[in-house]
Amino acid sequence: MARPRPSRSSSSFLPLLLLLPARHPLALLVAVAVTATLPPPALPYGFRNCIEAAWDPGFFRCIQRYLESPGPAVSDLPPRTYALNLSHNALRLLPPASFARLPRLRTLDLAYNRLQTLAPGAFDGLGELSALDLSYNRLAALGDGVFAGLGNLSSLWLRRNPLGSVSPGALAPLVNLRCLSLRGGRLEGLGAVAEAVKGLGRLRTLDLCCNNLTALGPGPPLPASLVNLHLCNNSLGGLLGASPTTLRHVRTLDLSYNGIARAEAFAPLRLRNLSLLHLSGNPLDVFRLLEVSDVRPHSLDFSGLTLGEGGVEKVCQKLKGPRALRRLKLQHNGFQKMPNGTLASCPLLKELDLSYNRLRGVGCVGLLLRGEQQRELEALTVEHNLLQRLPSCWTAAELPRLANISFRYNRILTIGPGAFAYAPALRVLKLNINSLARLDRDALRGLGNLTELRLDNNLLTDLYQGSFVDLGSLRTLNLRNNRVSVLFPGIFKGLASLQTLDLGGNNLRHLASRSLLGVPVLSKLYLDRNRLLEVRSEVFAPVQATLGVLDLQANNLQYITQRQRQQPPFRNLSRLYDLKMQAQQPYGLKVLPHRFFQGLVGLRSLSLSQNKLLAIPADVFQDLGQLTFLTLADSSNGMQDLPDGVFRNLGNLLTLDLENVGLHSLTLEVFGNLSRLRVLKLAKNELKTFNYSVASRLPSLRYLDLRKCPLSCTCDNTWLQSWLNNSRVQVVYPYNYTCGLRHHAYVHSFDTRVCFLDLGFYLFTGTVPVVLLLLVVPVVYHRAYWRLKYHWYLLRCWVNQQWRREEERYVYDSFVSYNSADESWVLQELVPQLERDSFRLCLHHRDFQPGRSIIDNIVDAVYNSRKTVCVVSRSYLRSEWCSMEVQLASYRLLDERRDVLVLVLLEDVGDAELSAYHRMRRVLLRRTYLRWPPEPPAQPLFWARLKKALRWGEGGEGEEEEGLGAGRRGEKEEKA
Ligand SMILES: *[C@@H]1O[C@H](CO)[C@@H](O)[C@H](O)[C@H]1NC(C)=O
Ligand SMILES: *[C@@H]1O[C@H](CO)[C@@H](O)[C@H](O)[C@H]1NC(C)=O
Ligand SMILES: *[C@@H]1O[C@H](CO)[C@@H](O)[C@H](O)[C@H]1NC(C)=O
Repeated sequence: MARPRPSRSSSSFLPLLLLLPARHPLALLVAVAVTATLPPPALPYGFRNCIEAAWDPGFFRCIQRYLESPGPAVSDLPPRTYALNLSHNALRLLPPASFARLPRLRTLDLAYNRLQTLAPGAFDGLGELSALDLSYNRLAALGDGVFAGLGNLSSLWLRRNPLGSVSPGALAPLVNLRCLSLRGGRLEGLGAVAEAVKGLGRLRTLDLCCNNLTALGPGPPLPASLVNLHLCNNSLGGLLGASPTTLRHVRTLDLSYNGIARAEAFAPLRLRNLSLLHLSGNPLDVFRLLEVSDVRPHSLDFSGLTLGEGGVEKVCQKLKGPRALRRLKLQHNGFQKMPNGTLASCPLLKELDLSYNRLRGVGCVGLLLRGEQQRELEALTVEHNLLQRLPSCWTAAELPRLANISFRYNRILTIGPGAFAYAPALRVLKLNINSLARLDRDALRGLGNLTELRLDNNLLTDLYQGSFVDLGSLRTLNLRNNRVSVLFPGIFKGLASLQTLDLGGNNLRHLASRSLLGVPVLSKLYLDRNRLLEVRSEVFAPVQATLGVLDLQANNLQYITQRQRQQPPFRNLSRLYDLKMQAQQPYGLKVLPHRFFQGLVGLRSLSLSQNKLLAIPADVFQDLGQLTFLTLADSSNGMQDLPDGVFRNLGNLLTLDLENVGLHSLTLEVFGNLSRLRVLKLAKNELKTFNYSVASRLPSLRYLDLRKCPLSCTCDNTWLQSWLNNSRVQVVYPYNYTCGLRHHAYVHSFDTRVCFLDLGFYLFTGTVPVVLLLLVVPVVYHRAYWRLKYHWYLLRCWVNQQWRREEERYVYDSFVSYNSADESWVLQELVPQLERDSFRLCLHHRDFQPGRSIIDNIVDAVYNSRKTVCVVSRSYLRSEWCSMEVQLASYRLLDERRDVLVLVLLEDVGDAELSAYHRMRRVLLRRTYLRWPPEPPAQPLFWARLKKALRWGEGGEGEEEEGLGAGRRGEKEEKA
């Protein structure tokens, strides 16, 4: 018996359906819908040529970018920019409206460029600009309209430009200008400048020093608001063009170094209103000047004038008057000696400045003055002289108000005992930048009010015990850059108010444990650039309650192992907030012992840069919960990645500088806990990527520097490419990151389509079947379960039938399809009637092969029988198997165009009942059927018609069918 073959075509159908949409418009639609749900691309952040200050949003520096025009820098800056520094570039010209994108700009620095021309309207749109620096450029002229629109500008610097002309209208728009510097140009007349500034009613300061001015006129008067006029280093020798109105409103006038030789040249000018006149560097007889002009001696600065023999006395004669002098400045007067009583004839003065002379001594100062003057003097400055020793002044006259003394920049070798006994009220004493080799134990006796003592940059080798014992008010002691090699115990005794002690740049190798005794409120201790080999906790014990800043950079600290051999050095410094340990000598700190920073619970800033750290113990920063700033920059001595958990407790860290430390990768174990980190500097590392996982764990990050890392352009970094364009974190120069060492391929633009294509495809093929299945299954289940099942069987039938076509024959004349409820009728009435006439009948209870699936049996029965008799009753209609048998038979009817179906209606089924079984109803409506008459006389007719129907088609159909039927019968007969 022929068996239906399993269908193969159906099994390849599903994948086909799924592949199809990949090139289909529908696929595009789905893809668009999927991408539309992703967040839209953010505006770029991170700038081609500028860096936004990490802690000052809106302040941009675009320095040393070799820019030839401002466009590339300005084009991607946000409108909120308020300060822009474009200095040190190669700008050649400014086109109109160069900065119009930045309407909020207040400060613009264009110094150190090559600007030769400014187009009219170059600064259009900068209505809020208040400061503009164009110094150190190549501007030769200022034309009309270049400053148009700068109505709020208050400062304009044009220093060191070869500026030869300023057009009369050039500065007119600057109605709020207060300060204008044209220093170092090539201007030749004040008149042209006066013309240009004449409308500037708020101009206060005009600097024209170092030009080529030869005349003060002709020209309009300077604005009445202009009170500070600097004309130094010009060629105004004859003061040509001067008129009484020229300098009428000026208060401060600088005419130094102009080669003015004739005092009479000043005669036409009105100088009465001047409050300060600088004339140094002019070969001028100043006493003659005082005679021929109306300048008041009090307003004259006598510095830099050759006063001649007895000059000081003559000056003082001139200054005599009822008023006390605020300050007497006698710089650059070539004085070599100041004999006793030199200044006795001067009026009372508060400040005396004798700097830049050639004095070898000033004695005990008081002797220069007479009694009442001594009581008034508050400040004495004798810098840049040749002072060699300060004598002992125990018995000298006191200057009870003298609070400031500066002897900087001299050659002082020794200071005698009680050298400042004349100034018991001294507060600030500057002895720095001298040759002091030895400080007498009693040199600073009695200075109980001294608050600041500068002894830095001398040659001190030893500090004697008791030197500072009287300085109970001293707050700052600066001993930097001397040669101190030992701090004897108790050396600072008596410095009860000392807050800042600067011992940087000395020769200290060792700190004795009691070195810091006697400074109970010390808060800042600088020990940098010494040769300390170790630091021990005992040293800091006396200051542990107050020390806030400790600078230990550039010493010789070294540790051999990570094992602690002594107490952690800083363990009691709980108030310390700033610790510097960078750049240990000669090769840098290599090892940090375990928990080296133990106890620094208040530390906020830690600097460990420029060392050669080979290994950092994971617990080293464990106690630094308050740390906000940490740098390990430039510690790349083959340092590998940082140990896991090293930053674990640094939840308050805001800035982390890891530039050039040899990192190969970033891991969550290291960077996972920095939840407040804002600034992360990772430049010059071996990083190939900046991991997404790490980035997502730095929620506060605002500034990231990845310059000079060999970032790779692989699919791993596609996220980075899009991240470079995100709008939260400023990435420094994101458009300069190259792909590894390749110079012309960039991370921000490498081709990621390959990566996305794969991803999209996998996503598509992965999700679409699931989605479709989820859509289709319930619908199918709900609406077409049975229909599908039939179609499945039909398909199998069709296949069977195809295969069967060649060897068609019928085993049975008819397959009787009935429901078991009607079995009695079938067996007692139908079967005997028909088998009597030798019809071969197929009955399921009799002829179905046991063991085969029922469906196969049905299919075989239908196809191996010439006809199918359906015994229709109510129970038949309800049975799904029967329903299928009808379907199979009617399919055959359609397919073979042969009428195989004979319907016997066993009981009357109303139309209403039938409508529930619409499939059967359709068949019944289409076909004629035989109705079983219950009354016996009608039954013979029924049997006759049934038998006719079963025989019909054996011979009398259409020609074709007849031939086929005959043929088949023939075949069948042959085989039979
Ligand atoms: C100033 O002018 C003189 C003569 O006019 C000229 O020799 C000199 O080179 C000029 N200086 C500058 C800096 O232009
Ligand atoms: C100034 O006076 C003091 C004491 O009166 C004296 O010792 C000293 O020699 C005098 N100096 C000069 C330069 O006359
Ligand atoms: C030191 O300062 C205090 C307070 O300012 C003042 O009362 C005292 O007179 C000063 N001492 C001397 C010696 O001037």
